[in-house]
Amino acid sequence: MDRVSPVPVLDRLARPLRDLRVSVTDRCNFRCRYCMPRERFGADHAFLPRAELLDFDEITRLVTIFARLGVVKVRLTGGEPLVRRDLPTLVAAVAAVPGIEDVAMTTNASLLAPLAADLRAAGLSRLTVSLDTLDPQRFTTVADVAIPLAQVLAGIDAARSAGFRPLKINAVLKRGVNEDDVEPLVEYAREHGDVIRFIEYMDVGTTNGWNGAEVVPAAEVLARVSARHPVEPLEPTYPGEVAARYRFLDGQGELGLIGSVTRPFCRSCTRARLTAVGELYTCLFAARGRDVRGLLRGGATDEQLLQAIGGVWAARTDRYSELRAQGHDPSPRAEMSYLGG
Ligand code: GTP
Ligand code: 5AD
Ligand code: SF4
Ligand code: SF4
Repeated sequence: MDRVSPVPVLDRLARPLRDLRVSVTDRCNFRCRYCMPRERFGADHAFLPRAELLDFDEITRLVTIFARLGVVKVRLTGGEPLVRRDLPTLVAAVAAVPGIEDVAMTTNASLLAPLAADLRAAGLSRLTVSLDTLDPQRFTTVADVAIPLAQVLAGIDAARSAGFRPLKINAVLKRGVNEDDVEPLVEYAREHGDVIRFIEYMDVGTTNGWNGAEVVPAAEVLARVSARHPVEPLEPTYPGEVAARYRFLDGQGELGLIGSVTRPFCRSCTRARLTAVGELYTCLFAARGRDVRGLLRGGATDEQLLQAIGGVWAARTDRYSELRAQGHDPSPRAEMSYLGG
Protein backbone atom coordinates (compact mmCIF):
# COMPACT_ATOMS: atom_id res chain seq x y z
CA MET A 1 0.00 0.00 0.00
CA ASP A 2 1.22 3.54 -0.67
CA ARG A 3 2.49 5.65 2.15
CA VAL A 4 0.16 8.53 3.15
CA SER A 5 1.82 11.92 2.52
CA PRO A 6 5.41 10.84 3.23
CA VAL A 7 7.59 13.44 4.91
CA PRO A 8 10.96 11.68 5.25
CA VAL A 9 13.23 13.36 7.74
CA LEU A 10 17.03 13.45 8.08
CA ASP A 11 18.87 13.98 11.35
CA ARG A 12 21.77 16.41 11.85
CA LEU A 13 24.22 13.82 10.49
CA ALA A 14 22.00 13.29 7.40
CA ARG A 15 20.75 9.89 8.60
CA PRO A 16 17.19 9.01 7.60
CA LEU A 17 14.70 7.42 9.98
CA ARG A 18 14.14 3.88 8.67
CA ASP A 19 13.74 1.46 11.60
CA LEU A 20 11.67 1.58 14.74
CA ARG A 21 12.30 -0.74 17.68
CA VAL A 22 9.21 -0.95 19.86
CA SER A 23 9.59 -2.32 23.37
CA VAL A 24 6.25 -3.81 24.41
CA THR A 25 7.20 -4.58 28.01
CA ASP A 26 10.11 -4.05 30.41
CA ARG A 27 9.49 -7.51 31.91
CA CYS A 28 11.31 -10.72 31.12
CA ASN A 29 11.08 -14.30 32.39
CA PHE A 30 14.91 -14.61 32.20
CA ARG A 31 17.56 -12.86 34.27
CA CYS A 32 20.55 -12.92 31.91
CA ARG A 33 23.59 -11.77 33.85
CA TYR A 34 24.55 -9.22 31.19
CA CYS A 35 21.08 -7.70 30.92
CA MET A 36 18.89 -8.09 34.04
CA PRO A 37 21.15 -9.32 36.86
CA ARG A 38 18.92 -10.83 39.55
CA GLU A 39 20.38 -8.76 42.36
CA ARG A 40 19.16 -5.62 40.55
CA PHE A 41 15.98 -7.04 39.02
CA GLY A 42 14.76 -9.12 41.96
CA ALA A 43 11.37 -9.50 43.64
CA ASP A 44 11.45 -5.87 44.81
CA HIS A 45 12.19 -4.36 41.40
CA ALA A 46 9.46 -1.93 40.35
CA PHE A 47 8.40 -2.93 36.85
CA LEU A 48 6.11 -0.62 34.91
CA PRO A 49 2.45 -0.77 35.97
CA ARG A 50 0.14 -2.02 33.22
CA ALA A 51 -1.82 1.22 32.85
CA GLU A 52 1.41 2.99 32.01
CA LEU A 53 2.06 0.84 28.96
CA LEU A 54 1.01 2.00 25.52
CA ASP A 55 -1.93 -0.12 24.42
CA PHE A 56 -1.97 -1.78 21.00
CA ASP A 57 -4.05 1.01 19.42
CA GLU A 58 -1.61 3.62 20.71
CA ILE A 59 1.38 1.69 19.41
CA THR A 60 -0.27 1.22 16.02
CA ARG A 61 -1.15 4.89 15.76
CA LEU A 62 2.44 5.87 16.52
CA VAL A 63 3.79 3.36 14.00
CA THR A 64 1.56 5.01 11.39
CA ILE A 65 3.14 8.38 12.18
CA PHE A 66 6.66 6.90 12.12
CA ALA A 67 5.91 5.30 8.75
CA ARG A 68 5.02 8.72 7.35
CA LEU A 69 8.43 9.93 8.55
CA GLY A 70 10.25 7.17 6.67
CA VAL A 71 10.11 4.05 8.85
CA VAL A 72 9.74 0.86 6.79
CA LYS A 73 10.80 -1.67 9.38
CA VAL A 74 9.46 -2.33 12.87
CA ARG A 75 11.07 -4.67 15.39
CA LEU A 76 9.12 -5.69 18.48
CA THR A 77 11.30 -6.17 21.56
CA GLY A 78 11.04 -6.17 25.35
CA GLY A 79 12.22 -7.17 27.92
CA GLU A 80 10.78 -10.33 26.50
CA PRO A 81 8.00 -9.34 24.07
CA LEU A 82 6.10 -12.63 24.41
CA VAL A 83 5.40 -12.12 28.12
CA ARG A 84 2.88 -9.54 26.94
CA ARG A 85 -0.46 -11.12 26.07
CA ASP A 86 -1.89 -11.24 22.56
CA LEU A 87 1.20 -10.26 20.62
CA PRO A 88 -0.15 -11.71 17.34
CA THR A 89 -2.91 -9.07 17.50
CA LEU A 90 -0.32 -6.31 17.67
CA VAL A 91 1.72 -7.88 14.88
CA ALA A 92 -1.31 -7.93 12.60
CA ALA A 93 -2.11 -4.29 13.31
CA VAL A 94 1.47 -3.11 12.76
CA ALA A 95 1.88 -5.21 9.61
CA ALA A 96 -1.21 -3.52 8.15
CA VAL A 97 0.20 0.01 8.57
CA PRO A 98 0.78 1.60 5.14
CA GLY A 99 4.51 1.81 4.38
CA ILE A 100 5.61 -0.88 6.86
CA GLU A 101 7.38 -3.54 4.81
CA ASP A 102 8.95 -5.63 7.52
CA VAL A 103 7.77 -6.59 11.02
CA ALA A 104 10.35 -8.50 13.06
CA MET A 105 10.74 -9.61 16.66
CA THR A 106 13.65 -10.44 18.97
CA THR A 107 12.73 -13.05 21.60
CA ASN A 108 14.36 -15.46 24.03
CA ALA A 109 12.19 -18.21 22.44
CA SER A 110 11.05 -19.73 25.75
CA LEU A 111 7.38 -18.86 25.12
CA LEU A 112 7.52 -19.29 21.38
CA ALA A 113 6.41 -22.90 20.82
CA PRO A 114 2.66 -22.28 21.25
CA LEU A 115 2.78 -18.90 19.49
CA ALA A 116 5.07 -19.28 16.48
CA ALA A 117 2.39 -20.27 13.96
CA ASP A 118 0.01 -17.50 15.11
CA LEU A 119 2.76 -14.90 14.84
CA ARG A 120 3.56 -16.06 11.33
CA ALA A 121 -0.11 -15.99 10.31
CA ALA A 122 -0.47 -12.51 11.78
CA GLY A 123 2.20 -11.19 9.41
CA LEU A 124 5.46 -11.34 11.36
CA SER A 125 8.05 -11.41 8.60
CA ARG A 126 11.20 -12.30 10.52
CA LEU A 127 12.18 -13.71 13.87
CA THR A 128 15.44 -13.43 15.80
CA VAL A 129 16.06 -15.62 18.83
CA SER A 130 18.65 -15.10 21.54
CA LEU A 131 20.68 -18.21 22.35
CA ASP A 132 24.03 -17.82 24.10
CA THR A 133 24.92 -21.46 24.73
CA LEU A 134 23.94 -25.02 23.86
CA ASP A 135 25.09 -26.39 27.19
CA PRO A 136 22.10 -26.93 29.54
CA GLN A 137 24.05 -26.16 32.72
CA ARG A 138 25.73 -23.09 31.32
CA PHE A 139 22.35 -21.93 30.04
CA THR A 140 21.00 -22.06 33.60
CA THR A 141 23.92 -19.94 34.83
CA VAL A 142 23.86 -17.41 31.99
CA ALA A 143 20.07 -16.92 31.82
CA ASP A 144 19.78 -17.42 35.60
CA VAL A 145 16.40 -19.06 35.30
CA ALA A 146 14.70 -22.40 36.06
CA ILE A 147 13.32 -22.73 32.53
CA PRO A 148 15.30 -25.49 30.81
CA LEU A 149 17.31 -24.96 27.63
CA ALA A 150 15.13 -27.67 26.04
CA GLN A 151 12.13 -25.31 26.21
CA VAL A 152 14.06 -22.66 24.30
CA LEU A 153 15.19 -25.17 21.69
CA ALA A 154 11.60 -26.36 21.31
CA GLY A 155 10.55 -22.75 20.69
CA ILE A 156 13.24 -22.40 18.04
CA ASP A 157 12.12 -25.64 16.35
CA ALA A 158 8.52 -24.42 16.33
CA ALA A 159 9.61 -21.14 14.73
CA ARG A 160 11.39 -22.95 11.90
CA SER A 161 8.37 -25.21 11.38
CA ALA A 162 6.10 -22.16 11.25
CA GLY A 163 8.17 -20.85 8.33
CA PHE A 164 10.58 -18.41 9.96
CA ARG A 165 13.50 -19.30 7.70
CA PRO A 166 16.22 -18.43 7.79
CA LEU A 167 15.95 -17.91 11.50
CA LYS A 168 18.48 -15.53 13.07
CA ILE A 169 20.21 -16.64 16.24
CA ASN A 170 21.81 -13.95 18.44
CA ALA A 171 24.58 -14.98 20.83
CA VAL A 172 26.17 -12.44 23.15
CA LEU A 173 29.72 -13.57 23.93
CA LYS A 174 31.41 -12.90 27.25
CA ARG A 175 35.08 -13.72 27.77
CA GLY A 176 35.53 -16.60 30.18
CA VAL A 177 31.80 -17.41 30.14
CA ASN A 178 30.69 -18.76 26.76
CA GLU A 179 33.54 -18.23 24.27
CA ASP A 180 33.76 -21.96 23.70
CA ASP A 181 30.13 -21.99 22.59
CA VAL A 182 31.21 -20.36 19.31
CA GLU A 183 31.88 -23.63 17.50
CA PRO A 184 28.84 -25.58 18.79
CA LEU A 185 26.54 -22.66 17.95
CA VAL A 186 28.00 -22.40 14.45
CA GLU A 187 27.46 -26.14 13.89
CA TYR A 188 23.91 -25.98 15.26
CA ALA A 189 22.98 -23.04 13.03
CA ARG A 190 24.59 -24.52 9.93
CA GLU A 191 22.79 -27.79 10.48
CA HIS A 192 19.44 -25.97 10.38
CA GLY A 193 20.29 -23.36 7.74
CA ASP A 194 20.01 -20.52 10.29
CA VAL A 195 21.98 -17.27 10.49
CA ILE A 196 24.25 -17.28 13.53
CA ARG A 197 25.22 -13.82 14.82
CA PHE A 198 27.77 -13.18 17.52
CA ILE A 199 27.33 -9.94 19.44
CA GLU A 200 30.00 -8.07 21.36
CA TYR A 201 28.98 -7.60 24.96
CA MET A 202 28.00 -3.92 25.28
CA ASP A 203 28.25 -1.44 28.13
CA VAL A 204 24.55 -0.71 27.87
CA GLY A 205 22.74 0.32 31.06
CA THR A 206 24.49 0.60 34.40
CA THR A 207 23.66 -2.65 36.20
CA ASN A 208 25.60 -5.35 34.35
CA GLY A 209 29.04 -4.36 35.69
CA TRP A 210 30.47 -4.18 32.17
CA ASN A 211 34.20 -4.54 31.84
CA GLY A 212 35.95 -4.09 28.48
CA ALA A 213 38.15 -7.13 29.16
CA GLU A 214 35.03 -9.33 28.89
CA VAL A 215 34.33 -8.31 25.29
CA VAL A 216 35.22 -10.94 22.70
CA PRO A 217 36.08 -8.83 19.62
CA ALA A 218 34.33 -9.56 16.33
CA ALA A 219 37.73 -9.98 14.61
CA GLU A 220 38.63 -12.79 17.00
CA VAL A 221 35.34 -14.58 16.38
CA LEU A 222 35.84 -14.26 12.63
CA ALA A 223 39.30 -15.83 12.86
CA ARG A 224 37.98 -18.62 15.04
CA VAL A 225 35.00 -19.49 12.89
CA SER A 226 36.81 -19.23 9.57
CA ALA A 227 39.61 -21.52 10.78
CA ARG A 228 37.11 -24.35 10.61
CA HIS A 229 34.65 -23.08 8.02
CA PRO A 230 36.02 -20.58 5.46
CA VAL A 231 33.80 -17.55 4.80
CA GLU A 232 33.61 -14.57 2.48
CA PRO A 233 31.95 -11.19 3.17
CA LEU A 234 28.45 -10.45 1.91
CA GLU A 235 26.83 -7.10 1.18
CA PRO A 236 24.45 -5.76 3.86
CA THR A 237 20.79 -6.67 3.32
CA TYR A 238 19.82 -3.06 4.05
CA PRO A 239 21.78 0.19 4.50
CA GLY A 240 22.93 0.49 8.10
CA GLU A 241 22.63 -3.22 9.01
CA VAL A 242 24.28 -3.72 12.41
CA ALA A 243 25.74 -7.14 11.57
CA ALA A 244 28.64 -7.59 9.18
CA ARG A 245 27.55 -10.60 7.10
CA TYR A 246 29.60 -13.55 5.85
CA ARG A 247 28.74 -16.52 3.69
CA PHE A 248 30.16 -19.96 4.43
CA LEU A 249 31.98 -21.02 1.26
CA ASP A 250 30.22 -24.38 1.30
CA GLY A 251 26.91 -22.50 1.07
CA GLN A 252 25.56 -23.81 4.37
CA GLY A 253 24.17 -21.15 6.71
CA GLU A 254 25.39 -17.60 7.29
CA LEU A 255 27.53 -15.80 9.87
CA GLY A 256 26.91 -12.30 11.26
CA LEU A 257 29.20 -10.32 13.54
CA ILE A 258 27.86 -7.40 15.55
CA GLY A 259 30.87 -5.37 16.64
CA SER A 260 29.11 -2.59 18.53
CA VAL A 261 32.20 -2.04 20.69
CA THR A 262 35.17 -2.56 18.35
CA ARG A 263 33.47 -1.51 15.08
CA PRO A 264 30.88 1.16 15.85
CA PHE A 265 28.25 1.69 13.16
CA CYS A 266 26.73 5.02 14.26
CA ARG A 267 27.31 6.73 10.90
CA SER A 268 24.63 4.61 9.30
CA CYS A 269 22.32 4.32 12.31
CA THR A 270 18.74 4.86 11.20
CA ARG A 271 17.06 3.44 14.33
CA ALA A 272 14.58 5.06 16.70
CA ARG A 273 13.40 3.32 19.86
CA LEU A 274 10.02 3.55 21.54
CA THR A 275 9.79 2.33 25.13
CA ALA A 276 6.78 0.47 26.51
CA VAL A 277 5.55 3.73 28.11
CA GLY A 278 5.94 5.71 24.91
CA GLU A 279 9.24 7.50 25.28
CA LEU A 280 11.20 8.12 22.11
CA TYR A 281 14.93 7.38 22.34
CA THR A 282 17.21 8.31 19.46
CA CYS A 283 20.13 6.17 20.72
CA LEU A 284 20.56 2.95 22.68
CA PHE A 285 22.88 4.84 24.99
CA ALA A 286 20.87 8.05 25.38
CA ALA A 287 20.45 9.40 28.89
CA ARG A 288 16.74 10.02 28.40
CA GLY A 289 13.84 9.80 25.98
CA ARG A 290 11.11 12.24 24.92
CA ASP A 291 7.63 11.63 26.23
CA VAL A 292 5.37 10.89 23.28
CA ARG A 293 2.63 9.21 25.33
CA GLY A 294 1.88 12.54 27.05
CA LEU A 295 1.11 14.11 23.67
CA LEU A 296 -0.88 11.08 22.57
CA ARG A 297 -3.03 10.89 25.70
CA GLY A 298 -3.27 14.69 25.86
CA GLY A 299 -5.24 14.70 22.60
CA ALA A 300 -2.55 15.64 20.04
CA THR A 301 -3.61 15.30 16.40
CA ASP A 302 -1.67 13.09 13.96
CA GLU A 303 -0.11 16.22 12.46
CA GLN A 304 1.03 17.42 15.89
CA LEU A 305 2.55 14.02 16.64
CA LEU A 306 4.26 14.01 13.26
CA GLN A 307 5.74 17.44 13.89
CA ALA A 308 6.92 16.51 17.39
CA ILE A 309 8.52 13.18 16.41
CA GLY A 310 9.98 14.58 13.19
CA GLY A 311 11.42 17.48 15.17
CA VAL A 312 13.17 15.14 17.62
CA TRP A 313 14.71 13.16 14.75
CA ALA A 314 15.75 16.32 12.86
CA ALA A 315 17.68 17.49 15.92
CA ARG A 316 19.41 14.13 16.49
CA THR A 317 23.20 14.08 16.77
CA ASP A 318 23.71 10.75 18.63
CA ARG A 319 26.79 8.66 17.90
CA TYR A 320 27.58 7.20 21.28
CA SER A 321 29.55 4.10 20.24
CA GLU A 322 31.80 6.16 17.99
CA LEU A 323 32.50 8.67 20.75
CA ARG A 324 33.17 5.92 23.30
CA ALA A 325 35.62 4.30 20.87
CA GLN A 326 37.42 7.67 20.83
CA GLY A 327 37.66 7.61 24.61
CA HIS A 328 34.75 9.86 25.63
CA ASP A 329 33.04 9.23 28.95
CA PRO A 330 29.70 7.43 28.81
CA SER A 331 26.63 9.41 29.87
CA PRO A 332 24.11 7.99 32.38
CA ARG A 333 21.89 5.67 30.37
CA ALA A 334 18.78 3.52 30.41
CA GLU A 335 18.73 -0.26 30.86
CA MET A 336 18.67 -2.58 27.85
CA SER A 337 15.57 -4.41 29.10
CA TYR A 338 13.75 -1.06 29.32
CA LEU A 339 14.88 0.17 25.92
CA GLY A 340 14.53 -3.09 24.05
CA GLY A 341 18.14 -3.45 22.88
P1 GTP B 1 18.11 -6.99 11.81
O1 GTP B 1 19.34 -6.42 11.23
O2 GTP B 1 16.86 -6.35 11.31
O3 GTP B 1 18.02 -8.47 11.69
O4 GTP B 1 18.06 -6.70 13.39
P2 GTP B 1 19.07 -6.10 14.44
O5 GTP B 1 20.35 -6.81 14.37
O6 GTP B 1 19.09 -4.62 14.26
O7 GTP B 1 18.29 -6.41 15.82
P3 GTP B 1 18.57 -7.38 17.06
O8 GTP B 1 17.44 -7.16 18.01
O9 GTP B 1 18.81 -8.76 16.60
O10 GTP B 1 19.89 -6.81 17.70
C1 GTP B 1 21.14 -7.43 17.63
C2 GTP B 1 22.13 -6.73 18.55
O11 GTP B 1 22.50 -5.47 17.99
C3 GTP B 1 21.61 -6.45 19.95
O12 GTP B 1 22.63 -6.63 20.90
C4 GTP B 1 21.22 -5.00 19.86
O13 GTP B 1 21.22 -4.39 21.10
C5 GTP B 1 22.30 -4.48 18.94
N1 GTP B 1 21.83 -3.27 18.29
C6 GTP B 1 20.75 -3.15 17.50
N2 GTP B 1 20.63 -1.89 17.06
C7 GTP B 1 21.68 -1.22 17.59
C8 GTP B 1 22.10 0.13 17.55
O14 GTP B 1 21.49 0.97 16.91
N3 GTP B 1 23.22 0.45 18.25
C9 GTP B 1 23.92 -0.44 18.96
N4 GTP B 1 25.01 -0.02 19.58
N5 GTP B 1 23.55 -1.72 19.05
C10 GTP B 1 22.44 -2.09 18.39
N1 5AD C 1 25.36 -6.44 25.10
C1 5AD C 1 25.06 -6.95 23.87
N2 5AD C 1 23.88 -7.49 23.56
C2 5AD C 1 22.96 -7.55 24.53
N3 5AD C 1 21.71 -8.06 24.54
C3 5AD C 1 21.18 -7.85 25.76
N4 5AD C 1 22.06 -7.24 26.58
C4 5AD C 1 23.20 -7.05 25.84
C5 5AD C 1 24.46 -6.48 26.10
N5 5AD C 1 24.78 -5.96 27.30
C6 5AD C 1 21.11 -8.70 23.36
C7 5AD C 1 20.18 -9.83 23.67
C8 5AD C 1 19.27 -9.86 22.44
C9 5AD C 1 19.42 -8.49 21.82
C10 5AD C 1 18.17 -7.72 21.67
O1 5AD C 1 20.30 -7.78 22.66
O2 5AD C 1 20.81 -11.04 23.83
O3 5AD C 1 19.68 -10.83 21.50
FE1 SF4 D 1 15.50 -11.17 29.01
FE2 SF4 D 1 16.68 -10.87 26.62
FE3 SF4 D 1 17.50 -9.45 28.73
FE4 SF4 D 1 17.97 -12.05 28.69
S1 SF4 D 1 18.81 -10.52 27.23
S2 SF4 D 1 17.18 -10.88 30.45
S3 SF4 D 1 16.17 -12.82 27.65
S4 SF4 D 1 15.51 -9.29 27.77
FE1 SF4 E 1 22.88 4.25 16.83
FE2 SF4 E 1 23.46 5.10 19.27
FE3 SF4 E 1 23.95 2.55 18.53
FE4 SF4 E 1 25.43 4.58 17.55
S1 SF4 E 1 25.33 3.91 19.69
S2 SF4 E 1 24.60 2.85 16.41
S3 SF4 E 1 23.86 6.18 17.37
S4 SF4 E 1 21.93 3.54 18.72
